[in-house]
Amino acid sequence: MMPEAITANEFKLLRDLIEKWCGIALGNEKAYLIETRLMGLMAEHGCADYGSFYRLASRDASPLLRDKIVDAMTTNETLWFRDGHPFEILKDKLLPDLARELVAGNRFRIRIWSGASSTGQEAYSIAMTILEYCRANPGLRPDQFEILGTDISPSALFLARNARYDEAALARGLGVERRNRFFHPEGRVWVANDEVKQLATFRKFNLQDPLEPLGHFDIVFLRYVSIYFSEPLKQQIYAGIANLLAPSGHLIISAVESLRGISDAYTQLSHAGGSYYRCLPS
Ligand SMILES: C[S@@+](CC[C@H](N)C(=O)[O-])C[C@H]1O[C@@H](n2cnc3c(N)ncnc32)[C@H](O)[C@@H]1O
Repeated sequence: MMPEAITANEFKLLRDLIEKWCGIALGNEKAYLIETRLMGLMAEHGCADYGSFYRLASRDASPLLRDKIVDAMTTNETLWFRDGHPFEILKDKLLPDLARELVAGNRFRIRIWSGASSTGQEAYSIAMTILEYCRANPGLRPDQFEILGTDISPSALFLARNARYDEAALARGLGVERRNRFFHPEGRVWVANDEVKQLATFRKFNLQDPLEPLGHFDIVFLRYVSIYFSEPLKQQIYAGIANLLAPSGHLIISAVESLRGISDAYTQLSHAGGSYYRCLPS
């Protein structure tokens, strides 16, 4: 049985529920997204219309349906070394300064956060950049670096933790040389080698929640996620990150995101055709 098209009121109810759960703010023109992405779940749960699905979702005490809805509504699009320049910035600008601190014994550990890590490509691209950097700079050891990947989507986190990718996923941004160096085949799947996996841990985290429990970071990657959020949530998150960043820590966002009018806690820098942001002293 085909479900009825979503009504304006059902859209408003589900939109508000989704924004409350994961911060994703959907304008009226996105009614089709709710309609298409939730249709399968609605059928699975025997609901004939979006109103009854909303009632089920809002009163269901188990996190399972909520997780499924969050999974359906989040866009997990990602690729290896996405946009290129963030990893050039990491290699040419950020790691050299941090490495000096490590070698001088002023620092013992460098922490990097991939704040919307999706299926792991961003965190593991950071890991590969660090491994390459350590290889080129023998005074450094990979175990001096720690990458935390967080995401709200349980299925994305599952894939990230397993670090198993099919040929098609691997081909999106990863050259053959890096693939052969950092992955090994298991049947038709490519699995990240231990040296890559060991650098990154993943945990479920909702960017709407207070950031303090995550601890301090030297570098934060928060890319292609604020585009889904309201202005007040963006302001809250960028202010929170400024508090988490070590003095002169750095934030990397994507070219389609901007801090203009959202946060004045950072100064903008550029390298390799891309921007990055240094946290100003508070
Ligand atoms: C388009 S992906 C970006 C992945 C990666 N940062 C990149 O640039 O390739 C956006 C990710 O943000 C996650 N996300 C959306 N809302 C979130 C929230 N409130 N808290 C944490 N993660 C969220 C989604 O689950 C999704 O995996």
